[in-house]
Amino acid sequence: MKGLILSGGKGTRLYPLTYTRAKQLIPVANKPVLFRVIEAIRDAGISEIGIVIGDTGQQIREAVGDGEQFGVQVHYIEQSAPLGLAHAVKISRDFLGDDRFVMFLGDNVIQGGISPLIADFAHHHEWNCQIVLKEVAHPQQYGVACLNEQGRIVQLIEKPQEPPSNLALVGIYMFDPSIFEAAEAIKPSRRGELEITDAIQWLVKHNYVVFPHIHQGWWIDTGKASDMLEANSLVLEELTPAIKGTVDTVSEIDSRVTIEEGAEIIHSVIRGPAIIGRNTRIVNSYVGPFSSIYHDVVIENSEIERSIVLEHSTIRNIPARIQDSLIGRHAEVTLTVSLPKAIKMHLGDHSRLGLL
Ligand code: TTP
Repeated sequence: MKGLILSGGKGTRLYPLTYTRAKQLIPVANKPVLFRVIEAIRDAGISEIGIVIGDTGQQIREAVGDGEQFGVQVHYIEQSAPLGLAHAVKISRDFLGDDRFVMFLGDNVIQGGISPLIADFAHHHEWNCQIVLKEVAHPQQYGVACLNEQGRIVQLIEKPQEPPSNLALVGIYMFDPSIFEAAEAIKPSRRGELEITDAIQWLVKHNYVVFPHIHQGWWIDTGKASDMLEANSLVLEELTPAIKGTVDTVSEIDSRVTIEEGAEIIHSVIRGPAIIGRNTRIVNSYVGPFSSIYHDVVIENSEIERSIVLEHSTIRNIPARIQDSLIGRHAEVTLTVSLPKAIKMHLGDHSRLGLL
């Protein structure tokens, strides 16, 4: 089997961060979501992976390279514009050939990996496609499946106004080459995209075997900042803590904290689950639960919790607690006078915020 990861798209819901950065490279628990996807596919025993890239393709090529760092072989497939998930499948035909494959959206994070799913699909040659479903609170935002009493798929609809069920399509799909026929047969949706939901519905309608798997663990599609923070919290909960950097004797570190190499914790309190990245300095500060502070960051005389701070950013002298925030790379947050008790911000790369 092969792997296909979709990392094109525009990431408009994550502006301003994704003006300058591929959303798949935003880290949760200090590891880019895309790296987690590559590792999940590799851990399921697949070593040949195609990555569909768009405008941010160069950043993705630089970060992932030929895949050697993950122990896989990576091929890049350029998509001229984000014309839909089924379009991405269509343009990957040369890479995929007649192999069965798993398609994984490069911005999705799932609990427990995909090894059992891949094993099931490899075992059941009669299945043309396997989809993963998850019960969600707001199915209107997703592709939705309607199953009959025997658990067979009756219908799939993309973002229905009146959802027939609360079972959303998770961004992980397994296909055999019949999907190419489906992708050729469907027409663009009202939003102008070739929808993968429509292609799978075409398979169902033409009596191909589409098997639904209902996922019991958590799953996050990191489309928006709030989803990123949620995914970050969930992954941090599962991290095995390790202290590799230095912590001075007056600092207080929880049991569920990871301090990466070269990081320095000085006169500070870190409450887990949290992670502090390589060569980051935390001085006279409080880092609260569910925070991921990436590498080469400086936090001085400040308090932060349930937030993600990207590399090379500086936060200094902020007396209000920063919370539920996503702060881009090379951002500078400083303060001159007084502030309310808590502040929330989503700052793009190279932002400079001086609070008055
Ligand atoms: P989406 O989240 O549906 O789209 P997007 O990334 O453009 O984000 P937004 O809606 O905020 O503008 O995409 C899901 C994943 O699939 C994501 O990793 C990008 C990728 N993708 C492609 O590779 N090609 C495409 O044509 C589309 C639509 C998405």
